[in-house]
Amino acid sequence: MSPIDRLSLPFTNGAIDVADMGATLVLRARPCPAYGLFQRENLYCRQAFYPTCQQLAQAGFDMDRPLPEQFTHAIVHITRARNETRALIAKAYCALAPNGVLIVDGDKTDGIESHLKAVKKLLPVTATLSKAHGKVFWLSKTETPAALTDWLGALEPRRIADGFYTRAGVFSADKIDKGSAQLVPFLAGKLKGNGADLGAGWGYLSKQVLASNPAIDTLELVEADRHALDCARLNVDDPRTGFYWADALNHTTKAPLDFVVMNPPFHETRKADPALGQRFIAAAAKLLKPTGSLYMVANRQLAYEAALAENFRNVERLDQSSQFKCIWARKPKH
Ligand SMILES: C[S@@+](CC[C@H](N)C(=O)[O-])C[C@H]1O[C@@H](n2cnc3c(N)ncnc32)[C@H](O)[C@@H]1O
Repeated sequence: MSPIDRLSLPFTNGAIDVADMGATLVLRARPCPAYGLFQRENLYCRQAFYPTCQQLAQAGFDMDRPLPEQFTHAIVHITRARNETRALIAKAYCALAPNGVLIVDGDKTDGIESHLKAVKKLLPVTATLSKAHGKVFWLSKTETPAALTDWLGALEPRRIADGFYTRAGVFSADKIDKGSAQLVPFLAGKLKGNGADLGAGWGYLSKQVLASNPAIDTLELVEADRHALDCARLNVDDPRTGFYWADALNHTTKAPLDFVVMNPPFHETRKADPALGQRFIAAAAKLLKPTGSLYMVANRQLAYEAALAENFRNVERLDQSSQFKCIWARKPKH
């Protein structure tokens, strides 16, 4: 059974009666067989990761319909970020009408056990089911403990030691990414015209390249995580920028670009997946002018060389450390 099917269990075994479900909030919604058990018009789905949001929209879910005041049920799919998940649990609980039902689903590797433990300390949990290396648990709304509402704070951007805004759950939420920092010195004075930062995160790389390249006319920050992009808006205050909540793999620009910078994502799940970065390389090549340049940093062990050679005529390694490699690829083949 996939972890996603696990959510069906309390409904199919009659522990939670689908007939009682009115307006239902679904946080971090994702394609999930259990949704087929519910009345579609009762579901209010939210998802900040653009490709997943698009997948649900294409399957017919209205992803930004206005929310009612209260819900009879709320479902939280946990994320890998502990503080973000706690905040989502608190948010969903607070959105419930009295006696409303909160359902939390997730894998062990994403920390469902510790969330269950933390919730149990504050509220009586009705029941728990374990399946497929994870758990689904649920409870009915009673009082709202202050300790629970304290968890909500993680949903707000906060400043990290380096002065940047980040938020729980975004990439490198606690510090500047070492890979991006390694690429920065190679970009000073090298970029001009119009460019993009693919997978711009909370904007570290973009801010640095804008500061060290006065000849840049425009820079598009393309990022799939809406929360990271919201932080980037706070971090990168420059009239040359445009912010795009989008899938970098399908992003288009008005005209071909002079340059792309990127520190591409290398996993969607916990496992490293070089295919994702390879698709970013192909997407960067497509966006560039025939004379354009891609500057990228990647974990040293990721196999990007074949994709670079397939998409660019000139590929040069600018730097390599024990962890990262910085690459300059020129003249896309298209
Ligand atoms: C390794 S991080 C780099 C972040 C940022 N450039 C930095 O310097 O810290 C990769 C980023 O790509 C984003 N991402 C993942 N898949 C994406 C996609 N399909 N389209 C756009 N961005 C994506 C992730 O959310 C993450 O913020």
